[in-house]
Amino acid sequence: MKNSFRLLAILLAASFTLTFCDKDDEATPATLYDRLGGIAAISAVTDQFLTNVVGDNVINARFAATVANPARTQLLRNNLIDQICAGSGGPCQYKGKTMLESHKGMNITDAEFNALVGDLVAALDKFNVPQKEKDELLAILGPMKSDIVGK
Ligand code: HEM
Repeated sequence: MKNSFRLLAILLAASFTLTFCDKDDEATPATLYDRLGGIAAISAVTDQFLTNVVGDNVINARFAATVANPARTQLLRNNLIDQICAGSGGPCQYKGKTMLESHKGMNITDAEFNALVGDLVAALDKFNVPQKEKDELLAILGPMKSDIVGK
């Protein structure tokens, strides 16, 4: 009898632990950064994104000088990775210019902005990023449009 009380107490304690101490608890949802797959996945998506941009006749002329200069290409890549990483709640720090500073004087059109977003979506699709995460990332980048288009 004493032993079955002890067993009951152990079972109750175990079920309490499983119910209330679950580390994957809804109260601490993963950041978008984590759900995207962290820095490795963000770097892979960024590389594909840049490949798509270079192959996109609507906007690739804008990046001709960048592509011709490996150091400049590398810097743009790193800035984009940091920007996506930081924006999605990851441990990076964006160290580039503001969106207004870096696109000022370019007079970028709506069509060009949409083309670049399309190139990013195609990269996310290539890596099977789910719709929810795609939408969340685009919701972070979308508001930057007013500092990029028509400046
Ligand atoms: C949400 C949309 C966009 C984001 C997040 C974005 C992000 C960036 C970032 C982080 C940089 C680097 C800033 C630095 O050097 O400190 C940059 C530079 C640049 N962006 Fe954008 N951009 C966007 C849209 C566009 C569009 C639509 C175009 C043209 C079609 C464009 C053309 C450029 C060019 C030509 C540079 C200079 C690259 C270089 O330094 O060689 N961007 N952008």
